[in-house]
Amino acid sequence: MRPDLFDPGLVTAGEFSEAERAAVYRAIGTRRDVRDQFLPDPLPDNLVMRLLAAAHAAPSVGFMQPWNFVLIRDPAVREAAFAAFSRANEEAADMFPEERRDLYRSLKLEGICKAPLSICVTCDPDRAGPVVLGRTHNPRMDVYSTVCAVQNLWLAARAEGVGVGWVSIFRDKDVRALLGIPERIEIVAWLCLGYVDRLYAEPELAVRGWRQRLPLEELIFMEKWESR
Ligand SMILES: Cc1cc2nc3c(=O)[nH]c(=O)nc-3n(C[C@H](O)[C@H](O)[C@H](O)COP(=O)(O)O)c2cc1C
Repeated sequence: MRPDLFDPGLVTAGEFSEAERAAVYRAIGTRRDVRDQFLPDPLPDNLVMRLLAAAHAAPSVGFMQPWNFVLIRDPAVREAAFAAFSRANEEAADMFPEERRDLYRSLKLEGICKAPLSICVTCDPDRAGPVVLGRTHNPRMDVYSTVCAVQNLWLAARAEGVGVGWVSIFRDKDVRALLGIPERIEIVAWLCLGYVDRLYAEPELAVRGWRQRLPLEELIFMEKWESR
């Protein structure tokens, strides 16, 4: 008899039923970054809590759980965030080669005012003290953990009929000032959330001709870098 069968901390694992597996892959395959399809209906608190619980179930280096979630419903704050986005987006447009600028400017890259809820996800590098199991040689692991929380929330939201859009086109100091976030806390994501009843079947950037999905086969190496 295997000794681990007697470990009281273990529970039965094994594959999901076919329908459960299909649901997981459906959430992954049909999740979209949403900018414009948000419906105005407010999201109920218990639904928001389920999404946050999904985020909080994410893996984290040394079980550090470095995240916080700032919930923003106030339209005035969201309008100020939109103004900050607009300033940064003008700067961003100028960074692309001239022939791409018109297409860039035609893209809708945020849903801050349209989505009824924004969530700012942050990372506290000091959450588990100065030395964190697993983060000893790469301090960025705390941010990677926080991104896992974002992805959990994003997938759970898809299953709940809620669209999520990640807005990253901000000057850090603008978001920090708007939400009163201390310097030592890292701002990881500004997420826009709202119910959706329609979604793009493919990433919107692909639909609009900005960039296409890469062939998976080209991204896989066998045993060594660039060995196929
Ligand atoms: C870290 C991160 C930052 C992003 N920032 C933005 C953004 O500022 N504006 C935007 O419209 N989309 C943003 N996106 C969404 C991506 O454009 C989108 O994920 C990608 O085009 C693939 O589309 P899909 O998420 O619908 O599959 C971001 C996504 C990630 C993961």
